Amino acid sequence: MNSFVFQSPTRLRFGKDQIQQLSEEVSRYGNNILLVYGGGSIKKNGLYDEVINELAKSNTRVFELAGVEPNPRLTTVHKGVDICKTENIELVLAVGGGSVIDAAKAVAVGAKYDGDVWDIISKKATATGALPIGTILTLAATGSEMNANSVITKWDTNEKLGWSSPYSYPAFSILDPTYTMTVPEDQTVYGVVDMMSHVLESYFHHDTNTPLQDKMCESILATVVETAPKLLENLHSFEHRETIMYCGTMALNGVIQMGARGDWGSHRIEHAVSAVYDIPHAGGLAIIFPHWLRYSLHERNMERHVQLATRVFGVDQEGKSDEQIALEGIEKLSQFWIGLGAPARLADYSIDDSQLDRLAEIATASGPFGNFKRLEKEDVKQILTHAL
Ligand code: NZQ
Ligand code: ZN
Repeated sequence: MNSFVFQSPTRLRFGKDQIQQLSEEVSRYGNNILLVYGGGSIKKNGLYDEVINELAKSNTRVFELAGVEPNPRLTTVHKGVDICKTENIELVLAVGGGSVIDAAKAVAVGAKYDGDVWDIISKKATATGALPIGTILTLAATGSEMNANSVITKWDTNEKLGWSSPYSYPAFSILDPTYTMTVPEDQTVYGVVDMMSHVLESYFHHDTNTPLQDKMCESILATVVETAPKLLENLHSFEHRETIMYCGTMALNGVIQMGARGDWGSHRIEHAVSAVYDIPHAGGLAIIFPHWLRYSLHERNMERHVQLATRVFGVDQEGKSDEQIALEGIEKLSQFWIGLGAPARLADYSIDDSQLDRLAEIATASGPFGNFKRLEKEDVKQILTHAL
């Protein structure tokens, strides 16, 4: 195990009707609120009205940043920063999925920075503060509701960069599974793939003595594997939405990541792909991750693969080599995602080989990456070629 420091400043309010605590939460921070949301799902399902009604219970002035895109854009973040600076905003309240929350984090940090917030996102500058951030999660996927991460796209230069700072944790997050009931089937599947990918990224490491971390990862994966098909049978099951929501948060809130450095290569490759083709994040992961797994398979890396295959996917070891067991495990994961309806090939998004070199260039712009399997530009190209 590596030494680690863990601190989560996020107050999580999980369960039905937690929104009733919203005005109490908000009143801790001030009256001027920037409400950040996406393309309109919260207006369609009534959550927008609920939030406005709750906020009306305290003496708040509500400003709005609407229209945050999936794969949120820097231009939208800039608009939010301007509102914060001109209207003396005291709390940024994100109501939506990971994109909305990630944009809110960048807005909150940008509001306390004199230059362009892109300096912080691109790591040319360090954040020195942020407005407090609150979230109401509507889509179980990214874990952004309880971590400091944010991913922002600068579309004109095709850069999609992840960043984080000690200031970008939500101060509070309201997680009521009810609000995820209206997530359509495809986004539900993407959410499942994303949270499983976060666990897998964390699981594939070379650090020693992580038995509890391994078992926590395996438990989350097994729980998602058991629950996701049932949820897809009944998208309005509160019980299954609740389980999946909890899994999504636990997959990337830092708990299973304690004491080991995961890989995160598949995420780096996917971010390059969606920076150019603007595809859903987890659609890209469903395509890339199984190929990364196969590519990372060699003798030194076999043990983790075999452990995953046997413990999570129940691969029978009898009479098989370690490599056969590992490959069978990868195939089971891949078939599980395909069975849910996730895409399997870049061609599913009409992506051909014309820009593979550029994608590999973007992915490796800051050098080789991957803690479990180090990848250079040529490796990325090969993985993407397999994924065509
Ligand atoms: O924009 P609206 O109208 O709200 O619709 C959204 C959007 O079209 C819709 N949706 C959300 N909640 C809904 C709903 N539709 C009906 N009912 C609801 N309750 O779903 C669509 C996708 O939303 P989005 O927020 O983009 O999805 P997700 O949560 O998967 O976030 C993806 C973004 O997060 C980044 C990704 O790269 C991508 O930019 N990531 C952030 C991470 C983090 N902060 O820790 C880690 C991840 O690995 C990931 O990279
Ligand atoms: Zn992800």
